[in-house]
Amino acid sequence: MNLKEDVGIKAANYVKDGMTVGLGTGSTAYYMIKEIGRKIKEEKLNVVGVPTSTVSKQQAIDIGIPIKSIDEVKKVDLIIDGADEISTDYQGMKGGGAALLFEKIVATYTDQVIWIVDESKMVDKLGEFPLPVEVIPYGQHQLFHLFAQKGYHPSFRMENDQMKITDSGHSIIDLNLTQIDNPEKLAKELDETVGVVEHGLFLNMVNTVIIGKQSGAQTIS
Ligand code: 5RP
Repeated sequence: MNLKEDVGIKAANYVKDGMTVGLGTGSTAYYMIKEIGRKIKEEKLNVVGVPTSTVSKQQAIDIGIPIKSIDEVKKVDLIIDGADEISTDYQGMKGGGAALLFEKIVATYTDQVIWIVDESKMVDKLGEFPLPVEVIPYGQHQLFHLFAQKGYHPSFRMENDQMKITDSGHSIIDLNLTQIDNPEKLAKELDETVGVVEHGLFLNMVNTVIIGKQSGAQTIS
């Protein structure tokens, strides 16, 4: 069984006629977007998608999901998105696909947040996955040194031997922390660091988690 496909299809069942839906980014969200496209075509479902990246936007356009930007809608009913890690207390880390800024903005203005993951993403504590920090290019090397001095083991996100540039023109510094003992403290520290645009700690944001398991998907609300 393809666990990502399974949870993607299950999550798409939360989408009801007339809804405005945040479309997450990544290889799991891909299946959810595909299934919403199928429902629009075959079941005449009437929805508007709010994509969180150029990749999701293009997929939505290609399969015929009507889209609007976050600033063109009154509100978003639900967002369905993947995650890189979810801890036992349902705090999340996201941004492996470099879409964390738009994902967090859309989630912030959405009534219901659903995360879809395969069971490998469930962890005791966040931090084994490198924590993405989206930064303004101006001063990014100073920020890099600051993170290095703090012992955060930073690395610039690269793509094709170039620094990865996000949809909003920023860079990403990944922090290789191994374990985050106090996510709230770290989130506050990063929120207060000049030059940091956003970080991948998504704390107290999720309403429903759908976990793909070989034994069958588990939904936690
Ligand atoms: C993109 C994200 C993704 O949701 C996250 O990286 C999970 O991706 P995948 O489903 O491909 O494992 O946060 O910025």
